[in-house]
Amino acid sequence: MLRVERLRKRYDSGGRRDDAGHLAVDGVSFQVPDGKMYTLLGPSGCGKTTTLRCVAGLETPSDGTISLGGSVLYDAADDINVAPNRRQLGMVFQSYAIWPHMTVAQNVSYPLRIGGRAQRVPKAQVRERVEAALAAVHLEGYEDRRATALSGGQQQRLALARALIARPRMLLLDEPLSNLDAKLRESMRLELKRLQRESGITSLYVTHDQVEALAMSNVVAVMKDGQIVQEGSPVEIYKSPVNAFVADFIGSANLLDGTVRSTQAGDCCVVEVGGGLLYAQPSPASPELRSGQEVLIAMRPECITIEGRDDAQPPAADTPGWLEGIVRNRAFLGESVEHEVEIAGSVVRTRGMDIQPRGIGEHVWLRVRGEDSRIVPTG
Ligand SMILES: Nc1ncnc2c1ncn2[C@@H]1O[C@H](COP(=O)(O)OP(=O)(O)OP(=O)(O)O)[C@@H](O)[C@H]1O
Ligand SMILES: [Mg+2]
Repeated sequence: MLRVERLRKRYDSGGRRDDAGHLAVDGVSFQVPDGKMYTLLGPSGCGKTTTLRCVAGLETPSDGTISLGGSVLYDAADDINVAPNRRQLGMVFQSYAIWPHMTVAQNVSYPLRIGGRAQRVPKAQVRERVEAALAAVHLEGYEDRRATALSGGQQQRLALARALIARPRMLLLDEPLSNLDAKLRESMRLELKRLQRESGITSLYVTHDQVEALAMSNVVAVMKDGQIVQEGSPVEIYKSPVNAFVADFIGSANLLDGTVRSTQAGDCCVVEVGGGLLYAQPSPASPELRSGQEVLIAMRPECITIEGRDDAQPPAADTPGWLEGIVRNRAFLGESVEHEVEIAGSVVRTRGMDIQPRGIGEHVWLRVRGEDSRIVPTG
């Protein structure tokens, strides 16, 4: 188990007296259970890489503690700071940092050859472990190829094999797929997940790509301005964002202003939005709601059904769950169709599979189920 507690990192201002430096990580705490993949997700500059580099020992934190499997790697109070090469961690970065002048086998075996005499692995064993590591990433047979004569995806897999060969206690990955094209990224995502699952290696993953985070992680922590704003399973993060920032960052939520019209027993409220009424669920983080309160409603485009005026029975004016609108834009995306529908005062985006695009200017009904619209705190 990796335990990070109250981690802070302030970068120096370079000696300028009027500048207290930049607080890149501001009191981050999390735990990564053995064998799990934990992902730090957030926009550029939110402190993901800095957090990872503190765990790796490549950055000295300003405060906090970091421990792995019960042994302390960093403790500000006790002045403990284990050197990076003694932390026994495997690392993969966005730039794979493979050695261009070496073959594939030389690259992979590098970590086994650099240790001191005591740590060095016998030659026969090195060959065996190189073969096993390359097989794990489906690169068997490439041993003697120059590392630069591999494709981007193959180079990334080589970097992974090299990170795993020394049997690290944990794997740290910083945007490892971001240099690959979209198609390759998708297949490497599954490949990486398979490898992590099969090797059972505890992993800390850093990305700004929410699809990657949702697809690969056991637990996702969404970061903003050096802090973790929500932690949970991919489904929890997606379905129950604690605030508008998370709702907007994960997927592409419609965020609409509304006014609470009635609160009911149970957890559904009726909220007036864009000229209609909707049932909506308060997020666990919202405080008690009262009638008349202004709120923000988050709805996923794929949870909204669009119906033509003619196909649907027009609901009575005060039936919650229906919004009336006019199609303003549409896009056929192959596997789905997106529409932008103007409702009173705002635009709602919908995404559906297997439907005919509606005409621009067509009057439609939007149907939103109560469990699919969430009341989220702003911020
Ligand atoms: N060596 C440094 N000196 C000073 N400030 C730094 C340094 N490295 C990072 N920062 C600042 O710390 C903040 C966090 O940077 P970090 O690299 O951790 O962000 P990130 O979440 O990894 O972003 P990205 O998605 O762009 O990689 C940023 O504002 C950045 O400008
Ligand atoms: Mg980064």
